[in-house]
Amino acid sequence: MNNFKQEDFRGYKLSTVPEIDKRLAQTNSKTPCGEYLRRYWHPVALTSEVSEIPKEIRILGEDLVIFKSTKGKIGLVHKACPHRRASMAYGKTEDEGIRCCYHGWLFSTNGEILETPGENIDSKQAKKLRDTFKLGAYPVIEFNGLVFSYLGPMEKIPEFPHYDSFEIPGNISSPYRIDYNCNWIQVLDAIMDPLHTSFLHGQSSGIQFSEGFAEVGEIDFFERGIQYLGCNTRRINDNVWVRVNELILPNFTQAGAAFAADGTKSKYFGRSSFTRWVVPVDDHHCVALAWANFGDRGDPIEYNNQEGYERIEAGEISNRTQEEKQKNPGDAEAVEGMGSISSHKGEHLMPTDKGVMIYRRRIRKLSKDLEEGKDPPQPQKVKGQVVRTNGQDTILKAPKKNNNDKEYVKSICSSVMNMQFNLEDMPLKERDKSIINNLQEMEARGNFE
Ligand code: FES
Ligand SMILES: [Fe+2]
Repeated sequence: MNNFKQEDFRGYKLSTVPEIDKRLAQTNSKTPCGEYLRRYWHPVALTSEVSEIPKEIRILGEDLVIFKSTKGKIGLVHKACPHRRASMAYGKTEDEGIRCCYHGWLFSTNGEILETPGENIDSKQAKKLRDTFKLGAYPVIEFNGLVFSYLGPMEKIPEFPHYDSFEIPGNISSPYRIDYNCNWIQVLDAIMDPLHTSFLHGQSSGIQFSEGFAEVGEIDFFERGIQYLGCNTRRINDNVWVRVNELILPNFTQAGAAFAADGTKSKYFGRSSFTRWVVPVDDHHCVALAWANFGDRGDPIEYNNQEGYERIEAGEISNRTQEEKQKNPGDAEAVEGMGSISSHKGEHLMPTDKGVMIYRRRIRKLSKDLEEGKDPPQPQKVKGQVVRTNGQDTILKAPKKNNNDKEYVKSICSSVMNMQFNLEDMPLKERDKSIINNLQEMEARGNFE
């Protein structure tokens, strides 16, 4: 006889591993989500990683080689040489492109076969191949320390989008990369999960950013086209701190400051500590390629170093012992701990997971639409438009008014967000100034309607 209650111990009953969500998690070529992602520009490397020594990279499950020709042009090509599939990572860069180590074929950065030196100069077969076949190559744009590429069909190539956060006056943006040993959705989820900052970065691991983070605020979500905003609005004494995490599909993310906000001092439309993309490497790995932003509107310049980027990205530095990781887990531990692909069907999503639910649902829908021939929307509504973003910290003096402070705090968040949305079509600099003026006026009036 024992006293164990049958209904309590469900280990055996629940011992099968739940399924993954293939539509979101699988991103190799020709998978629905892989094809969807291939309709956008993604960062694929840091400029500092690209040199005349070819570098092997994997993006969206595809093995590629990135290099700089001796004339300084960046090429991103398939790893396998089309002759007999030697790795281009062992190729030699030249003025015009890259030469395969095995039989010396020379390829331009666009993938043209320029030379097949071992073949007879009169060989019709070799000439025909040179004229008609190409090494797989992708277009690249180098911008401010990051190399972006478009890996989709060339007849669908979109304009390279510019975001307003590319040009915040006085801002210093430093490129960084942080690699994750897990599926991209696990890393992306965290941005649409503003609640985790109160626990993971405050209550569970000790204070990783600032004390205010440990407060649990009012959680709210906004869905606007393919822009998703997740707000955690906290009461910090007489102040209300509106912190806004941002996702622009498929994988552009911003938030507020990591270290320069704690809710104690007024702040008007402070901008994100990072401007970042979460890019699938393959189904079991992804990389955050980003700029860390420093200056009056971002984080203090003292964090402008590798350790700073790691802390901005994940709350903790990467190179730690298992014991340290268990004591103070950061984002990497939270998301990699799920396994390299989380068993999504075993989740129990709650109202605070609404952000995760709505953006995942949209990606499923957009990838389905694409299967039916409908092109996915780009972040810029019209050609040439700079994309307006809303990821931020705003901290306003707003002492408690009555007993229903939760509602009051929530209403401040929606007033701030709606005011910003209403100014969306304003020219860039004017929008910035108007948002700041409006916030200061709201605060002075003590009226946030
Ligand atoms: S395998 Fe590349 S040239 Fe022969
Ligand atoms: Fe986090």
